[in-house]
Amino acid sequence: MTTDDAYVIAIDGPSGSGKGSLALAVARELGFHLLDSGAIYRLLALKAIEQQLDLDDEDQVVALLDDFDIRFEAGEELSIPILDGRNVAAELRREKTGDAASVVARHPAVRARLLELQRGFFRPPGLVADGRDMGTTVFPDARFKFFLYASPEVRAQRRYKQLINMELSANIADLQAEIEERDARDRNRSASPLKPAEDALIVDSSLMDLAQVTELVLSHIRETERYD
Ligand code: C5P
Repeated sequence: MTTDDAYVIAIDGPSGSGKGSLALAVARELGFHLLDSGAIYRLLALKAIEQQLDLDDEDQVVALLDDFDIRFEAGEELSIPILDGRNVAAELRREKTGDAASVVARHPAVRARLLELQRGFFRPPGLVADGRDMGTTVFPDARFKFFLYASPEVRAQRRYKQLINMELSANIADLQAEIEERDARDRNRSASPLKPAEDALIVDSSLMDLAQVTELVLSHIRETERYD
């Protein structure tokens, strides 16, 4: 495959819709690179929390990007996020970090500064990019765009199972309330709000498991390529 053949597959959707697992499965199947853009916002939020910054203060948060030393190392299953030389995988997964990420992600200057960094992940043979605005803003020319939806109830149940499997305590009602709050913040912000790109294929995964959604997405890609 040449550089000209390389393309982007954008997978957007609300938190807990399963887009991270889907993106990983699709990238593995196609041998593509992966961009977990949420992890970048989480890394920035973690840095802001560690420095005890006011997350609502756009200038303070954007200044962190002058010295934003992040990378992803290949791990056994998932890649390992490194912030300032430290493995921060555990901190990054916490609800508190995800919530803080959705606060720093509201700042237009932060989003603008992160554009090039995210686009830099695109390399042959191709990239699967997951997030909220991959198909609308970061990769508007992506060859394939999917918007993964799942009801807040289903997402809360999935998150509950994940946390219990990680031996963390959780309460379904609290998780659902947090999910709805985060959705509202992501949907209602002015800069790159969470919404499907006009040319995205919307997939409701509420009643499908990961294998079924992955199969649906891969067969759409393969069928389209066959007739292109
Ligand atoms: O996907 P994840 O839950 O890791 O993302 C954390 C938060 O980062 C989201 O709630 C959202 O506010 C923000 N985000 C974003 N744009 C992206 C990816 C994530 O605003 N492309």
